[in-house]
Amino acid sequence: PAQSNFSGVQHSLDWVEQAQRRGWDVLLDAAAFVPTNRLDLGRVKPDYVVLSFYKMFGYPTGVGALLARRRALEKLQRPWFAGGTITVASVQADRHYQAPGPAAFEEGTQAYLTIPAVDIGLQLIESVGIEAIHSRVTCLTGWLIDALTSLRHDNGQPLIQLYGPATTDRRGATLSLNFHDRVGRPIDHRSIERQANRERISLRTGCFCNPGAGETALGLSKGELDACFVRSHRRMTFDDFQRCIDGKSTGAVRVSLGLASNFDDVRATARFAEQFLDWGDDAED
Ligand SMILES: Cc1ncc(COP(=O)(O)O)c(C=O)c1O
Repeated sequence: PAQSNFSGVQHSLDWVEQAQRRGWDVLLDAAAFVPTNRLDLGRVKPDYVVLSFYKMFGYPTGVGALLARRRALEKLQRPWFAGGTITVASVQADRHYQAPGPAAFEEGTQAYLTIPAVDIGLQLIESVGIEAIHSRVTCLTGWLIDALTSLRHDNGQPLIQLYGPATTDRRGATLSLNFHDRVGRPIDHRSIERQANRERISLRTGCFCNPGAGETALGLSKGELDACFVRSHRRMTFDDFQRCIDGKSTGAVRVSLGLASNFDDVRATARFAEQFLDWGDDAED
């Protein structure tokens, strides 16, 4: 990914060319990166790029894009077909011909009632300016990192553990973190989310579809994870998993900023966090 959806770290886009020079085809996952950063495809030339429009301007959900260089697209052969992706097909002859270009990959009925919103969303981004969005969101992110990481319990223990870069250098506007009580034990991210919901603050918790980055950030070893998965033959619930990984965080809290975020939002988030200061042995929600 150009930007991790767990830690917010922005990987060097020079890796694209380095991988291509070693013979790889490169798919750049730009879903988390493009909402607040310019991706110049004249300079960085991955074979494929994926992105999700609702992450850029909030609507419509379920519509994303795979951008592919013409030559890269020609390499993709599908072992099956579905509505609208072929020129001719025959059951008795047991043959079909893939449609040329992108049509071969756009199967079924397109979301034609919502796709026009993409154009309006892109115009909105253009009217605000991606550089302005980038600078504003970077400033808000920097302020929030400083505010959250400076929170200390009365005994000096930090309240927040932030994963990923602690400055705005090579990082985006997703902050993954855990709250710790005054003796350093993690506070269950799900109770943080419940409290945030009560205060109408929209956070995400868990591992954000990125269990690998999560396990690394949270310091969960292969040994302890294997032990949990081997022990449980029936389907493990999240509570079972949490009991198995006793005493450690099994996920994190993620705060994401974007086009619509303003200073009131980051100040409200910092104030929200302050209420967990001095949580001790008996505090649970
Ligand atoms: C880097 C990255 N890739 C992929 C996804 C998944 O996007 P979607 O839910 O639109 O499929 C996300 C969502 O958080 C993301 O941040």
